[in-house]
Amino acid sequence: MTRILTLETTCDETAAAVVTDKLEVLGSIVASQNDLHQRFGGVVPEIASRAHVERILPVIHETLEQAGVSLQDLDAVAVANRPGLSGSLLVGLMAAKTLSLAHDLPLIAIDHLQAHIYACRIASGQDVFPCIGLIVSGGHSNLFRCRTALDFTAIGGTIDDAAGEAFDKVASMLGLPYPGGPAIEQAAKRGDATRFKLPRPLLHDAKRLDFSFSGLKTAVRYELFGPGRPKMGTEADLKPQLIADMAASFQAAVIECLVTKSVAALRRENSGRLCVGGGVAANGCFRAAMEKAAEENSFELFIPPLKLCTDNAVMGAIAIERYRAGLFESLDLDISAGLVR
Ligand code: KG4
Ligand code: ZN
Repeated sequence: MTRILTLETTCDETAAAVVTDKLEVLGSIVASQNDLHQRFGGVVPEIASRAHVERILPVIHETLEQAGVSLQDLDAVAVANRPGLSGSLLVGLMAAKTLSLAHDLPLIAIDHLQAHIYACRIASGQDVFPCIGLIVSGGHSNLFRCRTALDFTAIGGTIDDAAGEAFDKVASMLGLPYPGGPAIEQAAKRGDATRFKLPRPLLHDAKRLDFSFSGLKTAVRYELFGPGRPKMGTEADLKPQLIADMAASFQAAVIECLVTKSVAALRRENSGRLCVGGGVAANGCFRAAMEKAAEENSFELFIPPLKLCTDNAVMGAIAIERYRAGLFESLDLDISAGLVR
């Protein structure tokens, strides 16, 4: 049996897991930093990297203990080294390099976006490749043609904000807590999604598989506080029903863009399978809308359970694919904050 320790510190979760070549999860710990970033309404990179430094060793210890294995029992150590916040990525990378050097373990690099899609492979137990991959998270909104687990080509993406980032910023405008996605989903349950006519940027530009959420965010701001509103105020002045209606209207606009472009990508690439990853895929309305689209357009849909949608180290089991292919790294391995294509 091959056992790999996987580390994940790309953003604001410090996570580790021990996975096997049969894709069994022997141990998995995710230490969230939500409490640290909440009062800022978003992730503060410097705070995130400092918190990773404090948490990475306890998280690794706890994961190994849960898995009932020692460092000597491992066959490799893997780390997400791209894309993400530079300071955060460096903490995971240094921990992995140190373990690799001290315990003579092969070092494996994980692409965080490929790992998000690989969560579908783990959760379903099926070979989901080739497929179209949609990643919708706090930092990324991308469409990929995925030939294999390790062969991805970008075919579309956001030209400004990521979908999750828009959820977080709109939540902050509405006086809702961070992370904004779950808060907006909750508020939207009591809201009327047809009350505000918000734009669906790039929706009808059939030639492009791109998203744009920054103008939608601005449209929300003007609806709430802009010129011509009965009262210019702050989020504290917003009535609960208005918050709920705006949350529902905004959520519907984002979901329509994500679903429409995914269906267009499947058509254009002549693919019958969509795999979705990233924190926004935890959204119940998004999942329901995708399921409806899958039924209407006859494609196979894979969305992992909630805890495999948001950042975790279990999806780092994609390292097994690199282990099998003999794709190991030297101690010169670096981080890459942006997409590597
Ligand atoms: O994948 P993830 O955990 O971290 C990144 O790699 O960015 O995604 C976090 C993002 C946050 O923006 C959060 O607001 C969003 O996912 N999110 C949601 C929901 N749960 C988390 N967005 C909409 N609805 C949700 N239920
Ligand atoms: Zn992520």
